Amino acid sequence: MNTILVGALVALALYVWSRSAKTNRLPVPPGPKPVPVLGNIFDLTAKELWLRITGWSKQYGDIVYIHLLGQGLVFCNTYEVAQDLLEKKGSIYSDKPNLVMAGELCGCQNMVAFTRYGDFSRRQRKLMNTAFGISAVKRYRPQLANESILLLKRILADPQDYMGYIRRYAGGLTLQSVYGYRVETNADPLLQLGQECVDILSNKIASGGGIWPVDIFPFLQHLPTWFPGAGFKRKAAVWRAKMEEFVDKPYEMLLERVKTGTAVPCFVTTLLDEARNEKGETTDPQRDFDIRWTANSMYSASMDTTITTVQLFMLAMVLHPEVLKKAQAELDAVVGSQRLPTFEDRPNLPYLDAVMSEVLRWGVPVPLGLPHRLMEDDVYKGMHLKAGTLVFANIWNMLRNEDTWARPHEFIPERFLEPVDEATAKRRDPRPYVFGFGRRRCPGLHLIEESLWIVMATMLHTTELSVEKDDSGKPVPPVVDYNNSVFRTPAVFKCDIRPRSAQVLQLVRNAE
Ligand code: HEM
Repeated sequence: MNTILVGALVALALYVWSRSAKTNRLPVPPGPKPVPVLGNIFDLTAKELWLRITGWSKQYGDIVYIHLLGQGLVFCNTYEVAQDLLEKKGSIYSDKPNLVMAGELCGCQNMVAFTRYGDFSRRQRKLMNTAFGISAVKRYRPQLANESILLLKRILADPQDYMGYIRRYAGGLTLQSVYGYRVETNADPLLQLGQECVDILSNKIASGGGIWPVDIFPFLQHLPTWFPGAGFKRKAAVWRAKMEEFVDKPYEMLLERVKTGTAVPCFVTTLLDEARNEKGETTDPQRDFDIRWTANSMYSASMDTTITTVQLFMLAMVLHPEVLKKAQAELDAVVGSQRLPTFEDRPNLPYLDAVMSEVLRWGVPVPLGLPHRLMEDDVYKGMHLKAGTLVFANIWNMLRNEDTWARPHEFIPERFLEPVDEATAKRRDPRPYVFGFGRRRCPGLHLIEESLWIVMATMLHTTELSVEKDDSGKPVPPVVDYNNSVFRTPAVFKCDIRPRSAQVLQLVRNAE
């Protein structure tokens, strides 16, 4: 019996070994030639990395491989490859990199976008689905409508600082829907803290692809902070303190309001009942921890994406006055001049829907998505993908596919109104691309669908947007720079913003 067992184990071991030996002999996907040891470090660019990767896709094909000091990165340049890997093989392509700098040193490891695949990430996704799932988001409509009017009221009163008000809208909306906290001024301390943390996350921790030398050589984390070259540890300590403050402060403030009976219903209070009693005391520490971190993650993830998308919309309108006029004519015909648009108008505003789809397609707010970590060795079309490889969806390239969208670099909402069969309409809808793939797909997609629509409708109905003019009255088209490494956020550009008429200005001023 023992002999049979030993024989079977030896045979199994030989089989596993021969399979892995065969796999290791397979080539990695094609890509630019690396230099010894350092790999492709010099091939990366800090700005608009997606353009460089799209260039490689033309040269090397649908799937491209590079490495940075041995850390493999794979780019899925087509929808089909992203589907095959991130969606169909989601059980092994849904992990997140173990980033020592962002995770352990800066304390972000419990934020949804950084959580390793497993029980915790599944619990977080469940909570987010409860709060921002397709049926749940409808309950935020009154808040969204109210906030969009306030946004326009502020912009029309002080158009120069339109960006400040968009930031306040994005941050204020999340603080209110997640923590029931109302932002009163642009200088609100929680709003400022949130903005500071989001800036630290996307422009400091995640700059240059978010991979620090300590992520490649984890032993560096044990250097004393005073040691030459350990500046990253000193920075991480400062950033970590800010992050923790932002996780705890709005949550604790809400708990105080729960105790005094002054909390307003929001995402956290909905979930809190099971984890805290009416005095705000913890009854289930695990659930309390999950809610605390998930709430914070939603703030961080929604700030930049919402700001980016509203800015891309405004940029598209400034650059395409003919589209702006057409959308306004549709709103005038359906809504009229006596009231502001509401969510109930949406089915009657197909052109506005087409504008929104084109903003998402043309704008590509998160062009390379967020990295997924492959959990075990895999073989794809005869190529070897090693466990630990970071896999990115090149969403930018997918949405510039001329077989699906003619003249893909141009902003043409009419493309979504062409009579086509159901399959073609589905393939052309940018939503299955822009929000990422598989089990880590964006959980905020239903909220942004509502929030972006009402902002666009209210802004178009009430506001004239156009390029700035110089002293001689000549239009000066904005020069737009994209310098954020994760989001395609246009740097602030100048534009001329004024009310469409005295009548709409009065409507906005009188609106509650
Ligand atoms: C137009 C606006 C938005 C776009 C284009 C966008 C896009 C994305 C993309 C591409 C990802 C990565 C998905 C992947 O890993 O495959 C993502 C993740 C995420 N998004 Fe969004 N997003 C938007 C708005 C929002 C909003 C408003 C929220 C919150 C209310 C949000 C919350 C998140 C979170 C928490 C993750 C991480 C999910 C995970 O790793 O499991 N997003 N988003």
